Amino acid sequence: MALAKTKKKALTKNNSNSLTRKKLKKLASKRNGKAKDKYVYTFGDGKAEGDASMKNLLGGKGANLAEMASIGLPVPAGFTITTEVCTAFYENKRKYPKGLEKQVENALAHVEKIMGAKFGSTKNPLLLSVRSGARVSMPGMMDTVLNLGLNDETLQGLIAKTGNERFAYDCYRRFVQMYGDVVLGLKPVNKDDIDPFEEILHDKKEKLGAKFDNELSAEALRELVHEFKAAIKERTGHDFPEDPMEQLWGAVGSVFGSWMNDRAIAYRKLYDIPESWGTAVNVQSMVFGNMGEDCGTGVAFTRDPATGENVFYGEYLINAQGEDVVAGTRTPEPIARLEQDMPKVFEQLMKIRKTLERHYKEMQDIEFTVQNGKLWMLQTRNGKRTAFAAFKIAHDMV
Ligand SMILES: Nc1ncnc2c1ncn2[C@@H]1O[C@H](COP(=O)(O)OP(=O)(O)OP(=O)(O)O)[C@@H](O)[C@H]1O
Ligand SMILES: [Mg+2]
Repeated sequence: MALAKTKKKALTKNNSNSLTRKKLKKLASKRNGKAKDKYVYTFGDGKAEGDASMKNLLGGKGANLAEMASIGLPVPAGFTITTEVCTAFYENKRKYPKGLEKQVENALAHVEKIMGAKFGSTKNPLLLSVRSGARVSMPGMMDTVLNLGLNDETLQGLIAKTGNERFAYDCYRRFVQMYGDVVLGLKPVNKDDIDPFEEILHDKKEKLGAKFDNELSAEALRELVHEFKAAIKERTGHDFPEDPMEQLWGAVGSVFGSWMNDRAIAYRKLYDIPESWGTAVNVQSMVFGNMGEDCGTGVAFTRDPATGENVFYGEYLINAQGEDVVAGTRTPEPIARLEQDMPKVFEQLMKIRKTLERHYKEMQDIEFTVQNGKLWMLQTRNGKRTAFAAFKIAHDMV
């Protein structure tokens, strides 16, 4: 209070009343533990501005990414745009609050520094994932966009940086498809409609006699990128956005936009989720499970969710990215096999399994990716389980 008074005195002296009010407001809100106009919270490199208790503000995913980062688990650096921005967006004719853009730029610079790469760079490009983040998981509300930041120039940077042309084109064709589906709205709404990208991909595989996506050559993937872009132009009348910053804001806008789509509204009604909660947006540096045989991606429960048995339970795919594990195009391996495929990663994952259970005192449902033998954690949340398993786990954990 004394501090506020002195501040007020000093500022009124300057005849700057609006400034006084602003500063006082700022001081008051800081005393409540949160800077009032803070819309963006960073995480990564063993530190985070948020934590697991901040689910209302950061959403479930963002709060837990922050928590994992601050307890020293390997989490790719990123930032969360708060649920308050979503609420403000809808209260203010779909406009973002003042200052958001600058905060996003600052957070991005922070992430670039940690990851040692630059968003939009043609030599050493940083790629991002944009992930939705309601307080509770809302399946199907908004799909994740991976590999954001690629265009014809940054692609060359990715090829030069990794020396792996096939990998770079694989990221590019995934990105154009995901961006086209999720942000540009080409994903079919009805079950019977055809996804234009899936159709093109299917035709390509048939023509080349490939059974799985991972059998496609760099050349075939390059052709796919062109064909995908042509499909976008044909259906939307616009060129695919090549500017990485435009891509980023497009994806962010689409997460906030998805909060009011029909599916989300129906889901909220069904599960009694208030509209006022809003969703957060997580922007995170990409790590790559599709760079080769020492890479992969997987999902797991720290215990068997059906029986509650204290065994590690999950699956993974070598040389794969994101949704490949659940997409059903290739059959994933049971997590126990990882001990043979990547013994060091497996050992580390077993340790993290223990750390997470001790920390959260709940069975966890996790997502991870391995890039060139290095393990990265992408998500953790309390695992859904059967009533029987819940009882057994509670009993075993005491
Ligand atoms: N930064 C990243 N690097 C590599 N892969 C990522 C990254 N972010 C997300 N992914 C991949 O995308 C998948 C899906 O992302 P995400 O967790 O955002 O959505 P979801 O699992 O479909 O839905 P939910 O909101 O219920 O978690 C992840 O499991 C992960 O494999
Ligand atoms: Mg997930």
